[in-house]
Amino acid sequence: MTAWAELHLHLEGTLEPELIYALAERNQIQLPYTGIDDLRSRYDFQDLQSFLDLYYTNMQVLLTEQDFTDLTDAYLARAGQAGIRRAEIFVDLQAHTARGVSAGTVLHGVHRALETSQDRYGISTGLILTFLRHLPAGDAMLAYQQARDTGVPLLGVGLCSSEVGFPAAPFAEVFDRARDDGLHTVAHAGEEGGASYVAEALDVLKVERIDHGVHAIDDPALIERLVAEQIPLTMCPLSNVRLKVVPSLAVHPILTMLNQGAKVTVNSDDPAYFGGYLDDVLAAMHTDLGLSEAARRQLARNSIEASFAPDAEKAALLQLWPAV
Ligand code: HPA
Ligand code: ZN
Repeated sequence: MTAWAELHLHLEGTLEPELIYALAERNQIQLPYTGIDDLRSRYDFQDLQSFLDLYYTNMQVLLTEQDFTDLTDAYLARAGQAGIRRAEIFVDLQAHTARGVSAGTVLHGVHRALETSQDRYGISTGLILTFLRHLPAGDAMLAYQQARDTGVPLLGVGLCSSEVGFPAAPFAEVFDRARDDGLHTVAHAGEEGGASYVAEALDVLKVERIDHGVHAIDDPALIERLVAEQIPLTMCPLSNVRLKVVPSLAVHPILTMLNQGAKVTVNSDDPAYFGGYLDDVLAAMHTDLGLSEAARRQLARNSIEASFAPDAEKAALLQLWPAV
């Protein structure tokens, strides 16, 4: 039985090398690699920034509305195979508008694939606009306005990109605005940054979920708070291994935190870059972390409960995971 919600997924992180090359050809773009093998050889990351550099470079192949539809559709098809029934998808709009691609091109293109997702793949979806933390907060406000002006429905806003040295506080205004407009709020925190970054996202941005939050494990008082308030953590164990946030999957704290009572979920983050989609992540956790059937069920139920899906949809999905 599989019925999962994926809550931490960067659309641009699903751009597979084959699609990068297909789109480069379609759009007549010269890539800075000698070929697909050369590109693949660069997926050996030292840290978050070395990944982000490649991630932003590869996005240059995304130019037209059709490109964004094709990218989204490829993810949804693969997610359906992984047992995902609900996907809340991050889009880094500013990484595209900065290259001269309009907000409408990006969001209408993505939306076109999302509209048919339930019928084609059995996946309900929502779009989360993620602001880039390494850029000024004023740029985030502009991106928010541009996104709203497209008329494409948004589920929420988030915050991602380089973490350490980029405080969340300047983004409070755009997060308040989105919340006033009825949107949900999430933020990356505690990936490369320490536990204080998680507390800052909760206290200053008032987010409903924390994306990653691995370093919360270093602060027992914070863990106590996360457990007491049942604040969901959308964790991505394979991503953390690939970006050297943890030394290996075998020592990843996800199951320890689950056992402590934190509302932990499992996600793929950037599956084209980090070794696989949600089913691959779960398989690796089974092998390297001894993921039990009971823990797998709890992670699945947490993912549904932590989603922003309508209550009736959550209830229907939870019924697929009766308590053992
Ligand atoms: N962290 C921060 N920003 C990101 C990530 C990540 O893991 N993936 C894509 N953007
Ligand atoms: Zn992420």
